[in-house]
Formats: sequence, C-alpha cells, structure tokens
Amino acid sequence: MNYVCVYFSRYGNGKRLVEYLGGKLREKNGNVQLFKVNEVDPGKVPAADVYVFSAAAEAFSLQRDMKTFLKNLRGMEGKKYGIINTHAMKKDRLDTMEKILSKKNMVKLAEVEFQVQGAGVQSGNGLPSGWEAQLDEFAEKLV
Ligand SMILES: Cc1cc2nc3c(=O)[nH]c(=O)nc-3n(C[C@H](O)[C@H](O)[C@H](O)COP(=O)(O)O)c2cc1C
Repeated sequence: MNYVCVYFSRYGNGKRLVEYLGGKLREKNGNVQLFKVNEVDPGKVPAADVYVFSAAAEAFSLQRDMKTFLKNLRGMEGKKYGIINTHAMKKDRLDTMEKILSKKNMVKLAEVEFQVQGAGVQSGNGLPSGWEAQLDEFAEKLV
C-alpha cells in the first residue's frame, strides 16, 4: 500500500504522531511519503492508496495552512483518507477536516484526536499517555 501523509505541526506533537504512524505503516510493508503541508501543491498531490492529513487546532478552528490546503485539493474524488487532529482545549477539529474532504468526495477510513496537555506541549511532549496505542488502532484501519 502507498501512503501519502501531509501534516502541520508547530511545536512537534503532531510531527511525533505522523513519524510514529509512518513507522507503523512501514512495518506493515507500506510505502510512506511524509510531507509538511507547505511542501505539497494541493493540486498535484502524489498518487497513493490512502492519504493521511494531520494538523493542530489553532484560533478556534483547524490550523489555517491545513484548512487552505484541504480546500484546494484537486482530483481526489473517491480517494481514501484518515485524519488526525491535535488540540489543547476540549473541542477537536476533526469535523472541520471531514466536512472539507467530504465535499471533495473523498472516503474516510479513520480518524483520531489527541488533546495535548501539560508543560511539555511547546516542546512536542504534550501527547496524552496511550497515544501510541491509539495510533496503532488508527493504522489498522488504514488498509
Ligand atoms: C496560535 C495558536 C492558537 C491555538 N488555538 C487553539 C484553539 O483554538 N483550540 C485548541 O484546542 N488549541 C489551540 N492551540 C493549541 C494547539 O492545538 C496545540 O499547540 C497543538 O495541537 C500542538 O500540536 P503541534 O505540536 O503539532 O503544533 C493553539 C496553539 C497556537 C500556537
């Protein structure tokens, strides 16, 4: 299986997630390409069997670069995806991601959210305990 993962991570929590996920998928013989959101043209995303989009909540919404990226995706009709959201307050932004992607006629396989917390957030160490197991479960659904 070919996976393309596009992410935004300001402090590194989301980066940890996608790097771990990439490792898991490769263990399952997946071919994984990982891109920061500003490294890919949303009109020319590389071909893949499954796409993963991961970003933080910022300013009471989905982080702006990712929101723009998702809105500008082209030629993704019928493609499968999984979504990951990190957030510090109670509310996650998975619904915003899904709403945009359903308008592109993409097909959701899995979603997962993580409420970051504690003094380590700004150094990328704010993920809740058990995050690896949650991502293992997420990875299982991306096949
Ligand atoms: C400018 C800014 C605005 C933020 N606004 C929100 C917000 O509205 N809601 C929320 O839950 N978290 C908010 N956060 C917290 C981020 O969601 C959190 O820092 C992020 O999920 C951590 O992931 P990262 O390390 O991958 O950047 C904000 C963070 C920043 C830096």
